[in-house]
Amino acid sequence: MADISANIVFSEQINRILTLPSPLQKLDDALFTKHGIDVFVKRDDLIHPEISGNKWRKLKYNLLDAQNQGVRQIITFGGAYSNHIYATAASGKYFGFETIGIIRGDELSENSSETLRFAAECGMKLHFVSRTAYRTLRENPASRNTFSHSKLIPEGGTSPLALGGVGEMVDEIVQQLGQAPDYIFCPVGTAGTISGIIAKTTPKTKVIGVCVLKNGQYLLNEIDNLLEVSNVNRVQNPVNVNLEILWNEHHGGYAKKTPELFDFVSKFNAEHDFEIEPIYSGKMFFAFYKNFLTMIKPQSKVILIHTGGLQGFIH
Ligand SMILES: Cc1ncc(COP(=O)(O)O)c(C=O)c1O
Repeated sequence: MADISANIVFSEQINRILTLPSPLQKLDDALFTKHGIDVFVKRDDLIHPEISGNKWRKLKYNLLDAQNQGVRQIITFGGAYSNHIYATAASGKYFGFETIGIIRGDELSENSSETLRFAAECGMKLHFVSRTAYRTLRENPASRNTFSHSKLIPEGGTSPLALGGVGEMVDEIVQQLGQAPDYIFCPVGTAGTISGIIAKTTPKTKVIGVCVLKNGQYLLNEIDNLLEVSNVNRVQNPVNVNLEILWNEHHGGYAKKTPELFDFVSKFNAEHDFEIEPIYSGKMFFAFYKNFLTMIKPQSKVILIHTGGLQGFIH
């Protein structure tokens, strides 16, 4: 992986633009005290209002790679509500890249969502394509010949280069906590975030993912591939020992919400000094509160990763 310190301009830009390390905030609840556990939230949502959460973590080494190769144009993919499109467009604006967004749906325009409007305002050039063309462009490199001078970042920002940035979040946690945590919980969408966490944790830490999609079991292969390509040491990181994914906490599927989830998120937001949203962090927090008594051993230190995405959350 490229050495960030060698790129002084990029390091200085990061320090100027972003809040890092993100805070680690204790989450107080009488139920946690009674069960004898300490729960902390890694507030990656505070990294930047427009490049928040796991989006920055996953983009960092992709952007550095583009800079080091002298590539000034980024091309990426997403839907009308994609947090990744939003964050990539903002990164282009702040870090001085041209950005191109291939958007799923040729019936859409830049006025179809707040996300697309914001991306266009940041200067992202939006290409609206049919679902079929989207799949071809995403999966077949030859179909992207016209963009051959661009750096490609896959949908959701998930690529082998994403793992390094996520791993830095784990380093921050260990430093802030003064030890490796016993559990890390995170939401799982395309599995880049959880792969980066697995790559950086030892068997002391159990990594628990909450899959926000229905039938997401195919993501286990994706995790395997990402770790393989990233050369993760499987002896140090025996995936099967310290990984568990909750597959049935999706509330009906991606972006679907049950009344229970909606009530939980509203109540949580009313009672705390920070917010969660119902698509990613809300499902993860819900699953944690529902399962901690049976899943978490007393005397443990637990981290919940707040992966941001609040800009897309309309109350
Ligand atoms: C706010 C937010 N949280 C969590 C996730 C899930 O992360 P991943 O796709 O890396 O599994 C995403 C999607 O990337 C997201 O936008």
